[in-house]
Amino acid sequence: MSLLLSTPEVDKMILVAAAGAPWPTSLPPSPVWFALLVALGLWVVVQSAATFLAWLHRAFLRPGRDLAGRYGTWAVVTGATDGIGRAVALELAGRGLHLVLVGRSPDKLARVGKEVLAAAPSCKVRSVSFDLAATGDDARRGAARVAAALEGRDVGVLVNNAGATYPCAAYFHEVADPVWEAVVRVNVEAATRITRAVVPLMAARGRGAVVNVGSGSSVVVPAFPLYAVYAASKA
Ligand SMILES: NC(=O)c1ccc[n+]([C@@H]2O[C@H](COP(=O)([O-])OP(=O)(O)OC[C@H]3O[C@@H](n4cnc5c(N)ncnc54)[C@H](OP(=O)(O)O)[C@@H]3O)[C@@H](O)[C@H]2O)c1
Repeated sequence: MSLLLSTPEVDKMILVAAAGAPWPTSLPPSPVWFALLVALGLWVVVQSAATFLAWLHRAFLRPGRDLAGRYGTWAVVTGATDGIGRAVALELAGRGLHLVLVGRSPDKLARVGKEVLAAAPSCKVRSVSFDLAATGDDARRGAARVAAALEGRDVGVLVNNAGATYPCAAYFHEVADPVWEAVVRVNVEAATRITRAVVPLMAARGRGAVVNVGSGSSVVVPAFPLYAVYAASKA
């Protein structure tokens, strides 16, 4: 094992060797653009880390809010008979909100209503059954029935959860008209119509929250090939 000590003699030897070296022995000063690029890179890294930490905090650490106190005591959940909508309805009922459940099937709505009451006996539940893919007067009447179910009530939260998609992956030009039309009607038109019916009731009380259930398809893969209309409707 050899040990190289830094003595004036050794330093001098290194300097002499470097002076004759075929490579540059000192770096030129960094140009301004390089420093700016480094600063930009650092900014992006810090921003991404901050976004990730904020998400971790929101998703796992932050205590739940008092939704009824903050927004109002009633919530509307569309597509509440299954999947995410049913889970959201049960969660909101557990947090003390009363519910207006919206779906196509009266039987399924009645079943979920019973589940909600079993989980949260003090919850008041109203159901509105109508097809969110409806058009014209049927669509307008459906939204009016949702508004009527909320009349005089302290509506605080609207969850536009009901969603339609293709039965299977398909190129844009292969999607049958009734399929993409239903996707646009349920995901865009009906969500807008229900929001338009509910927001004035919130505005009258000066508070409320609207949650539109989106999809990773509109974020993760650009244009989400083979589900283009669905991804666009969830953007
Ligand atoms: N599951 C996923 O992996 C996923 C991923 C990303 C985003 N999402 C979004 O999350 C939301 C819920 O998805 P999910 O998988 O939980 O859905 P789901 O299990 O298929 O349930 C859909 C709900 O929407 C209702 N619905 C569908 N079409 C309707 C219509 N024309 N009129 C009235 N109600 C209608 C259904 O009611 P009935 O059938 O009882 O009438 C049902 O309650 C959707 O907006 C979806 O785009 C889901």
